[in-house]
Parts: sequence; structure tokens; C-alpha cells
Amino acid sequence: MPLLGFGTWQLPGEQAYEPVRVALETGYRHLDTATMYRNESEVGRALQDSGVPRGEVFITTKLPAERAGRERETIEASLKSLGIDQLDLWLVHWPPRGRAHPATWREFVAARDAGLTRAIGVSNYSVAQIDDLVRATGVTPAVNQIPYSPALHDPRLLAEHQERGVVVEGYSPFRRSDLDDPVFAEVAATPGSSRRT
Ligand SMILES: NC(=O)c1ccc[n+]([C@@H]2O[C@H](COP(=O)([O-])OP(=O)(O)OC[C@H]3O[C@@H](n4cnc5c(N)ncnc54)[C@H](OP(=O)(O)O)[C@@H]3O)[C@@H](O)[C@H]2O)c1
Repeated sequence: MPLLGFGTWQLPGEQAYEPVRVALETGYRHLDTATMYRNESEVGRALQDSGVPRGEVFITTKLPAERAGRERETIEASLKSLGIDQLDLWLVHWPPRGRAHPATWREFVAARDAGLTRAIGVSNYSVAQIDDLVRATGVTPAVNQIPYSPALHDPRLLAEHQERGVVVEGYSPFRRSDLDDPVFAEVAATPGSSRRT
């Protein structure tokens, strides 16, 4: 999974097309969408029109919690909208009804085993909820996508994920940071710092 992704929340429908094309032209190779964002068709069209080969772009989409019980039809609809045969990563967007919900996770495992997605993960799960999934199914989520930023840095939370072999993917990195913090300006001004941090 490329380290930096291009998020498409708050770009509903046609509003997503141009930004995704520009992102791909700029060099992004990781797109993050969700059934809930209502832009999978436009993300897919932007990818096709960009001319960037499918194999070079990592694509994530997410199952809305309220679609628990309709997993297979939802991933098939996502693939059709995106115009692709296989996702790189499919996430449970939120714990359904606030619970880990192993039944949904079993459907995710089945979708992965059927080749509809290369990897499966969760989003907005606690470590305890991840443990519930693993206890029930024996399958560890590849990723937990959670709010994360320099301001939210939590070494213990990272260690708990690492111990379980779960990659933490941070979302809303700017929204939850003070972008006027002089440390950011210093890092940004240091040549090569993005490769070290
Ligand atoms: N899994 C989930 O539940 C979940 C939830 C949220 C997000 N996500 C994913 O994460 C992606 C990014 O999340 P996000 O849009 O919340 O967070 P973000 O990229 O951290 O924040 C975007 C907002 O931060 C402000 N901002 C960004 N760059 C700035 C800059 N250079 N200077 C000043 N303000 C700046 C802008 O606010 P203003 O609009 O106020 O200018 C912008 O709307 C989403 O597109 C989505 O793919 C996932």
C-alpha cells in the first residue's frame, strides 16, 4: 500500500472526477473511496481516463455499517462502479451497530477468498473489537483506518496494532493538526525530510 493516499470524502459524484485525475497526474498511486462517498463511478472513470495502468494504483473502498448482511452485493456494486475486477483493499467502514460483527467479517474473508479483493480490513475499530474478530474467525484485518495525525500520535495504540500485525492507516491528518505548528514548517522546509519521517 503506497504510504500516501488521495482521499475522496466530500467529493460526491462529478466533483470527484477532476481532483482524482489531477491526483493521478501529480503522482498519487493510492485512492481512497467508500460506498458512502457516492463517487465510485467517477473515481473509476478518472482512473480509466488518466491512462495510468490499473496495476499501478492501489484502490480502497468501504462497506457502510448499515450494509451489514448485504456484503457480497455491495462489493459487486463497488467493483462495477469502479470499473475494475478486484479491489486492493476493502474495509468495514464502521463497526456495525457499534459491535465487531464477526458475521460481516466472515463475508469479507469469503470475498477475499473469491478474489474480489486482494486484502480486507476495518476502519474505526478499537483494538478490543479487532480481537473479537480474530477470536471469532482466526483472520486478522490487514488494516485499521482510524483518525491519526501528528497531534494524535499514540505510541501505545500503534504498538497494540503492530503486535497484532495490523497496519494503522491514518485519516484526517490535516483536519486534526495545527498546521501553524512551527515543527511542520521546519519539517516541510528540510530537503529530504519527507523520506525520513
Ligand atoms: N474511514 C473513515 O471513517 C474516514 C473518515 C474521514 C476521512 N477518511 C478518509 O481520509 C481522507 C482525508 O480525510 P479528511 O478530508 O477528513 O482530512 P484531511 O485531509 O486531514 O483534511 C481536509 C481538510 O483539512 C483542511 N486542510 C487541508 N489541507 C490544508 C492546508 N494545507 N492548510 C489548511 N487547511 C487544510 C481543509 O479544511 P477546510 O475545508 O476547512 O479548508 C480540508 O477540508 C478522506 O477523503 C477519506 O478518504 C476516512
